[in-house]
Amino acid sequence: MRRAGAGGIPHLPPERPAGPAVRGPTLSAPGGGEGVKAPLAIYIHWPFCRSKCPYCDFNSHVRERIDAARWTHALLADLDRQAALAPEHEIVSIFFGGGTPSLMPPETVAALIDRVKSLWPVAPGVEITLEANPNSAEAERFAGFAATGVNRLSLGIQALDPAALKFLGRGHDRAEAIAAIKLARDNFARYSFDLIYARPGQSLAAWQDELGEALNLAGEHLSLYQLTIEPGTAFATRAQRGELAMPDDDFAAALFEATQERLAAAGLPAYEISNHARPGAECRHNLAYWRYEDYLGIGPGAHGRVTTADGKLATQQRRAPETWLDAIEAGGEAAGETTPIMPDMALAEMLMMGLRLTEGVKRPLLEALAGRDAEALFGAALPRLIEGGFVTLDAQRLAATAAGRQRLNAVLAALLA
Ligand SMILES: C[S@@+](CC[C@H](N)C(=O)[O-])C[C@H]1O[C@@H](n2cnc3c(N)ncnc32)[C@H](O)[C@@H]1O
Ligand code: SF4
Repeated sequence: MRRAGAGGIPHLPPERPAGPAVRGPTLSAPGGGEGVKAPLAIYIHWPFCRSKCPYCDFNSHVRERIDAARWTHALLADLDRQAALAPEHEIVSIFFGGGTPSLMPPETVAALIDRVKSLWPVAPGVEITLEANPNSAEAERFAGFAATGVNRLSLGIQALDPAALKFLGRGHDRAEAIAAIKLARDNFARYSFDLIYARPGQSLAAWQDELGEALNLAGEHLSLYQLTIEPGTAFATRAQRGELAMPDDDFAAALFEATQERLAAAGLPAYEISNHARPGAECRHNLAYWRYEDYLGIGPGAHGRVTTADGKLATQQRRAPETWLDAIEAGGEAAGETTPIMPDMALAEMLMMGLRLTEGVKRPLLEALAGRDAEALFGAALPRLIEGGFVTLDAQRLAATAAGRQRLNAVLAALLA
């Protein structure tokens, strides 16, 4: 899961709600009828990187030696173990995220894809994404990944400006970044890359230039994240010391708006706060999160959401790589937790995820989950937000407008009060 681009949008909500589990026809029959299998996305986490970037608080770690065989067996065992949670599903997406999955041996990726295919039926045109760093050593493996069935590459470019790459502590330079994008284009049916903007000292004109260059290199999809200072990172320490001149809220908002306009004009409108695609080329995997569909999280720190006959369940795995590995090798009991999600929490999650999307939340799903209509559910907050131009509601959907998505925390606080 990526972070949002604007306004300090929340991370995933707490994993341990209280109260009765979610039940009901809408959530307990996600397949939509007899014989129709519910879609399932599989996330597989590789928690290792060559070096730790100073802004990053992902579950990513630097280790001198990684026992690839041990990790392969453990990830396969985790797949086998969690398959029991979602037996009646069809796989629509597999996503290798990290950390740096382009450090995985291609044989490990192949073994995991094969195991998914042996555990579930797979939808035609299944999306199989791998996150990659553009270091030349890893780019050499791209063809190997394509041969395993990976059909979408997501590259962490972060910046096309050499000084910015240094500032962000990246292990690649501009030439490697551009070469990796071209190699991705040659090897994969689909590719995307990430950039981080709203960096200290970055002007609107400089960002427009960088965006223009990015659009020339882009395929069908781009992820554009505003730099956020995450607690516990090296940047957080520097920010506390007053060493990082971050853009103020107004300037960050101006950068965000310029980004939205430029990308829409180029034919890659935002379908989520930070994600842009040609219509039809959205990342199927991330849509599963934001549409509150079912997904399994494999590997350390990964989380999942699965609809069962007993209601919606949350899974959360232990974060520390070695603790998780030992727990899996000991049978998996202690590798993580599975907890029921209560109706009020499910509703909050559906809104927190769905209102990030331009398409918003499906009104019938929302109302079935809440057990009442949207007007009764949100009371006076709803007409206020509609009149203010922050949300729209019709028979099909509740959606945040562009202005609402930019202030999503405040919109959510009003709706969930
Ligand atoms: C798991 S990382 C990407 C994978 C890969 N390891 C890489 O760095 O190329 C996912 C993305 O989140 C974004 N990201 C991470 N930390 C961020 C932060 N503090 N602010 C903004 N974007 C961030 C980066 O664009 C990054 O590519
Ligand atoms: S941004 Fe990517 S490479 Fe850098 S520490 Fe985070 S996961 Fe690793």
